[in-house]
Amino acid sequence: MQKPDHARDDWTIDQGWSNYTEDEHEVWNLLYKRQMDVLPGRAASEFMQGLKALDLGKGGIPEFESMSDELESLTGWRVVAVPGLVPDEVFFDHLANRRFPAGQFIRKRHQLDYLQEPDVFHDVFGHVPMLTNPVFADYMEAYGKGGLRSLNFAALKNLAALYWYTVEFGLIRTDEGLRIYGAGIVSSKTESIFALEDPSPNRIGFGLERLMQTDYRIDDFQQTYFVIDSYEQLFRATVDTDFAPLYEQMKGQFAHSPETVLSDDEVLHRGSQAYAKAGGRFADAGQRT
Ligand code: PHE
Ligand code: CO
Repeated sequence: MQKPDHARDDWTIDQGWSNYTEDEHEVWNLLYKRQMDVLPGRAASEFMQGLKALDLGKGGIPEFESMSDELESLTGWRVVAVPGLVPDEVFFDHLANRRFPAGQFIRKRHQLDYLQEPDVFHDVFGHVPMLTNPVFADYMEAYGKGGLRSLNFAALKNLAALYWYTVEFGLIRTDEGLRIYGAGIVSSKTESIFALEDPSPNRIGFGLERLMQTDYRIDDFQQTYFVIDSYEQLFRATVDTDFAPLYEQMKGQFAHSPETVLSDDEVLHRGSQAYAKAGGRFADAGQRT
């Protein structure tokens, strides 16, 4: 990965908030409104409270500095702008220091439903609200520190699966039912419904080693979602475990495919996998080569 010339040594750039066009702010507003149609009653209350605390619905793409001042007063986190994906050690170092690196650009109107690289809507709308929750905020910092440590082992994939199945695609069990806290879900209208209501994917109780060994789809809806009981459970399970022996054992390999259900899984819902079997996102895209 090559650092762009305009980026600083830590890969941060200026957000350049005044350079966003009216149309770009409108795209944010459109995406925000679409999510508000589906998230109440589906997203975790901690996420909804975070949106409100940071006033992310006030209109337009948030300005990182003032948003960070507010966030810092709550949990000590700040949001910094980066050009796009950054190298692992840079990413981990930011998290370990309670800085969340966020894409600065916003998707185009024809990409409302899906885009490959995380943009400001995914990164800010999806990730930042949960950083207002003290326990989740601590988890993210611990993950960054764990990430820096993991660089001494050849098992980055296993640590990445943990991030994927919690920070990006996590579900939580509440008295009112399952709720979404994962940023990849809450920032997608279609997956917000699919993750909770579609019969296709498995929904399985969180198990640290189980999920670190499970492969995942990066270009389509998940075939399995893992469900935590509380952010404390997630924090304690990860912080109280020394990952070094796990890395030695897992060796950067995935023992389980995305749709696997194991005999000792706590199965909340066994997925039909109908969506994946029908070809998933690419079902009507014609022949792919
Ligand atoms: N406990 C992990 C280790 O020994 C670090 C970690 C904490 C990783 C929290 C992820 C989340 O490396
Ligand atoms: Co993300």
